[in-house]
Amino acid sequence: MAKYIHVSVAWPYSNGDLHVGHLAGAYLPADIFARYHRLKGNHVLMVSGSDSHGTPIMVEANKRGITPLQLFEQYHERFLLTQQKVGISYDLFTHTDTENHHKIAQDFFTLLLERGHLRVEKQTLLYSELDQRFLPDRFVEGECYICGYKEARGDQCDNCGNLMDATKLINPRSKENPDDKLIPRDSDHYFLALEQFIEHIVAYINSHAGHWRPNVVNFSLNFAKDLRGRPITRDIDWGIAIPLEGWSGKKMYVWFEAVMGYFTASVEWANNIGKPDEWKKWWYNPDAEIYNFIGKDNIPFHTVIWQAELLGVNGLYNDGDTTPLQLPYDVPANEFMNIEGKQFSKSRNWAIWLPDVLDRYQADAVRFYVTRTMPETHDSDFSWEGFFSSTNNELLAAWGNLVNRVTGFSYKRYNGAAPVVDQLLEIDEALIAKIEGGFETVGGLIERVKLREALKEAMSLVRDVNAYLDERKPWTTIKEDVNDAGRAIYTALRAIDNLKTLLAPFLPFSSQQVHEILGYDGQLFGDLKIEEFHEGQRSHKALVYDGTPAIGKWEKSQFAQGQPLREPQPLFVKLDDSIIETERAYLGQPRDEKPIVL
Ligand code: MF3
Ligand code: ZN
Repeated sequence: MAKYIHVSVAWPYSNGDLHVGHLAGAYLPADIFARYHRLKGNHVLMVSGSDSHGTPIMVEANKRGITPLQLFEQYHERFLLTQQKVGISYDLFTHTDTENHHKIAQDFFTLLLERGHLRVEKQTLLYSELDQRFLPDRFVEGECYICGYKEARGDQCDNCGNLMDATKLINPRSKENPDDKLIPRDSDHYFLALEQFIEHIVAYINSHAGHWRPNVVNFSLNFAKDLRGRPITRDIDWGIAIPLEGWSGKKMYVWFEAVMGYFTASVEWANNIGKPDEWKKWWYNPDAEIYNFIGKDNIPFHTVIWQAELLGVNGLYNDGDTTPLQLPYDVPANEFMNIEGKQFSKSRNWAIWLPDVLDRYQADAVRFYVTRTMPETHDSDFSWEGFFSSTNNELLAAWGNLVNRVTGFSYKRYNGAAPVVDQLLEIDEALIAKIEGGFETVGGLIERVKLREALKEAMSLVRDVNAYLDERKPWTTIKEDVNDAGRAIYTALRAIDNLKTLLAPFLPFSSQQVHEILGYDGQLFGDLKIEEFHEGQRSHKALVYDGTPAIGKWEKSQFAQGQPLREPQPLFVKLDDSIIETERAYLGQPRDEKPIVL
């Protein structure tokens, strides 16, 4: 029976371009997973959007002398184009400044308040004498009171990952004006009473620990151990209004509302397709599975805080029925991807920006390398040397050349079609069976979100076909025995047809090409489009996956003998080794943001 799979992907702060860290941390794993489940015939709903609020947006807008709105709109547009280019197949990639998101976030707030999960508390905060305002915690820096890291941010320590209380930082200072005097002062805020949910959340984590990544379990249990109330409002003017009189000077804390995006975007998607209750098939279905694809710095928000919010609003929009909303089934958080041995740094421009990379290289080559080095169990490293050799020596030499050699030979020597032969030999049948085994092994690994291993497994099957051809040598045997060479070529074509499917979640663009070369019509996947949606006076653009043309299936090939082929074109561009030095030289240098062309 088809399953309901929700793929919730971390919402990028819309304050700068996307980089390979984003791709490796969340978007690519989510996309591979979603595409696989679509091929399996499951009901996939994959959503995300631009995180448009919060101090990360304010700090950057401030720096550039523009408004947060202008900044976020500019990058939202770039996010749409970038992700369309690299093929991240969101059913909906929207943003958090829609009316829909504001309204639902306020409904969450109101319901949590009515049910006694929110309370007002006085909070001592750092007040800036210079700015005459409370300094948002991201504007504060100081020494971490847990691990001693010198440059902890007021909201989170990048070294130990713990969430911070800015007033407890040792030697707190303003990020913008180190000489600014920061004075502790009281301010009223709403707190989410997390302690009310401890038991439920700990039981939830323990009951899922068997299939969660150990680092996610450990971090979450540790975080859930001593849960206290956390403030969910801030003294800022950019964000979602508190739906109460007398609170106009404050806004919701970005994390409180951003995680709701998984839910609000599902509702928006349902409205957009004209079936306003459709989201319930995931959120009110105890058999549905919700997966949160995130980077490791986001763990506490997704395994604890978001749970509390969901538990607190049971029955929301469910006609009086108080069925629990579905909690995430898995939160496969990835570690970080370093660049040439060093940590990513936006300020030092130690980064590989996706718009630039997609301008110069094929999306599938980038997807391939990033998956091969995906930081699933530990931090990994993106190196240009690695990209170069993975593209040329693996993707192109093992897979691209296999497709070209076999389809080209068949096209030329067998009249533009697959050979027609008599009974296959045992060795031929054995190869086909082995490759067909990939539907179980590769599929199983993808289901357990071991994508790096899944791709490795698929590539080892590619090498099996190469080894088979080395043994069967149809290019020489054709001189004496056309039928026997034909058996080997037909066998290899059928293996390639299977491999095209096994690789499709990872390499959707080139798998489509292989599909066409093999003579098939139709699209393995649907189309990714940028569409405009209207809400009252405003409109916004979003990325949407239209699955209706998709015909791809996670099923064994039925490739027929004699099937007409299309003239093969090379799948991948061979890289020159000079790119290694050219690309390295960009690192750490000032960068121009160029318009993104499709
Ligand atoms: N914007 C956050 C970040 O880039 C991630 C938010 S994920 C969300 O770290 F789901 F909570 F929105
Ligand atoms: Zn720390």
